[in-house]
Amino acid sequence: MRDYFIFVISQDIYLLVPIAYIILETPIKMNTSQAEKKITELRDIIEYHNRLYYGEDRSEISDLEFDQMLEELIRLEQQYPQFHDSNSPSQRVGGVIIKEFNTVKHRVPMLSLSNTYSESEISDFVGRVSRGLGRDDFEFVSEMKFDGVAISLTYEKGKLMRAITRGDGTKGDDITHNIRTIRSLPLKIKADDLPEIFEVRGEVYLPLSSFNRLNKEREAQGEELYANPRNTASGSLKLQDSAEVARRKLDIFVYALVVDHPNIKTQVQAMQALSRWGFPVSESYSLCKNEQEIFAYINEWEEKRKDLPLDTDGVVIKVNSFDHQQELGFTAKSPRWAIAYKYQAESASTQLEGVSYQVGRTGAITPVAHLSPVKLSGTTVRRASLHNANEIARLDLRENDYVWVEKGGEIIPKVTAVNLEYRDKGSKPVDFPSQCPECDTTLVRADGEALHYCPNVSGCPPQIKGRIEHFCSRTTMDIKHCGPQTILQLYEAGMVKNIPDLYELKVEEVVKLEGFKQKSAENLIQGIEESANRPFETVLFALGIRYVGKTVAATLAKHFKSIDAIAQASYDELYAVPEIGERIAQSILLYFDQEENKDTIRLLKEMGLRFEYENDQEVGVEEDLLNGKSFVISGVFNSYDRDELKDLIIKKGGEVKSSISGKLDFLLAGENMGPAKRAKAEKLGVKIITETDFDKMIGG
Ligand code: IVH
Repeated sequence: MRDYFIFVISQDIYLLVPIAYIILETPIKMNTSQAEKKITELRDIIEYHNRLYYGEDRSEISDLEFDQMLEELIRLEQQYPQFHDSNSPSQRVGGVIIKEFNTVKHRVPMLSLSNTYSESEISDFVGRVSRGLGRDDFEFVSEMKFDGVAISLTYEKGKLMRAITRGDGTKGDDITHNIRTIRSLPLKIKADDLPEIFEVRGEVYLPLSSFNRLNKEREAQGEELYANPRNTASGSLKLQDSAEVARRKLDIFVYALVVDHPNIKTQVQAMQALSRWGFPVSESYSLCKNEQEIFAYINEWEEKRKDLPLDTDGVVIKVNSFDHQQELGFTAKSPRWAIAYKYQAESASTQLEGVSYQVGRTGAITPVAHLSPVKLSGTTVRRASLHNANEIARLDLRENDYVWVEKGGEIIPKVTAVNLEYRDKGSKPVDFPSQCPECDTTLVRADGEALHYCPNVSGCPPQIKGRIEHFCSRTTMDIKHCGPQTILQLYEAGMVKNIPDLYELKVEEVVKLEGFKQKSAENLIQGIEESANRPFETVLFALGIRYVGKTVAATLAKHFKSIDAIAQASYDELYAVPEIGERIAQSILLYFDQEENKDTIRLLKEMGLRFEYENDQEVGVEEDLLNGKSFVISGVFNSYDRDELKDLIIKKGGEVKSSISGKLDFLLAGENMGPAKRAKAEKLGVKIITETDFDKMIGG
């Protein structure tokens, strides 16, 4: 059902306009009651579109229109603080900073589940339930066991009042402000059958696509990668700055309703009610009448679970009827009416052939295990990360050891243990090198740091190439036609030895390089020249100062306004800036202490790059690569989430549509795109493109 606004034109003429098409214009001057009305209208309309987007996966207005309404709401709420509402959609962008979380007692303890890896224990569980109830007319619900962070949400009169972590089961941390940033979670609910007060439980998770995006960013910044989505989700929820949490784009699946309700007497009814009230419920649950149906579910989802947007590590089996659950009760630790079946983490044993040490652009040394090829979860694994020297010591890794490798939730396989059965007597320990494998400089490791670094910043080849690559990459200066291969060529030809050298390149020189012609050399130079226009915060991020990622660079640029002010700032001045901690402050001081870096900045200034913050740096249509082209985005993507893709398309002059029609230019198909969409596009002759095709289109 669509919501409408009624405009009364005259006594007997009314105009019904769908809410979606109304862009509310704020009069220049309004009195307090007009402002209150406007704020309420904006909140309703924004939540309407939010529900549509996250609940039904479609939109009726453009992102720009949505953002404009949200901005207007935020502005009005600032102007009229008396109408503050902590469940306003404006709260989803974060902004609240909490120094310390309050500990809150759970109304009903959050117990854990007993786990099993064996099907025979599932049979034992079914037997126990049958004996406990003294009959056989009971049913189960099987659900996926989501690998995230358990959370309890309390709603009163339809409003989210409190979100608490599981903690020790009896009390947890109040993280309501961070949970409000989850866009798919309803903050206010209107429904006829809504209980006055109720509690919902679920799992907060970081979608795999967001996890991959965050790690790509970290890789580009030379930072250690996040190990897995669960830990990253858990760490994100404990951040003090909810605006940063909003940027992480967490999501949630709810799986329990704790309330006494006359019409909700089973787990299936609870899931249906939650879904009706607008909560994100995974459709992966299923009613199982008996043990065989439970086993069939476990088998069916062993593969299918890989298509879900998050990691799962098993299946939760629950008795369906709440009366039955109550009759069965609890043991001291867990309910007697539920059990978790865990899938075996996929692992394989193979031999260590050697360890190499990679030098990143920040000089960080990462040990990599080289393995005899082994099949794991459908791919052949030849390498695995060993993280750092501490990890090698923890494993007590010796040369030629047989090791266990696992994929688990991690993207890069990791060595989990040594298979001691096959260890050679007298084998030699794997020794972490004391010299840089690339330039032979003595490595350093600061107190409390896990990583070793090569301090030869200006002379170590992978650091130099890495810095230039980072500077040119799509997430930083976005220099067209200047990927890692070209940089390697320019570096090896001695034409680019540091970042400023890029801006001195000439077409006549580039054209002499292998594989270059007049046109491609001109394109490269043009790409470099165009990049000189990027705003200060982008240049600052591109310089590659350790720990100064995109967000930190933007904060610094906004706060200090110029590179000179940052270079002159003291430790205390840096530390005083919100979001800047000890580690970042030290790293900035170190960067500006080095002569070579000062030279880089001086030269780049001479070349005309921007080193001062400009307030009016509007990001409008950046270029018209996609001018006039329309796209429908569907499925899950490796390097982008959907919002990013939308922004990118619009930035490049294209348009994003919500449904496929004959006029559409492209269907951008990610993983898990439904077959119906593909069929429709094929029937209408719409071109279907992959993420890689799209990257090529935008010159990536
Ligand atoms: S129901 C009494 N359902 O697994 C416990 N839990 O070991 C009721 N979990 O802390 C929990 N997916 O964080 C339930 N579909 C699901 C779940 C699920 C993941 C987690 C939850 C809980 C842990 C129990």
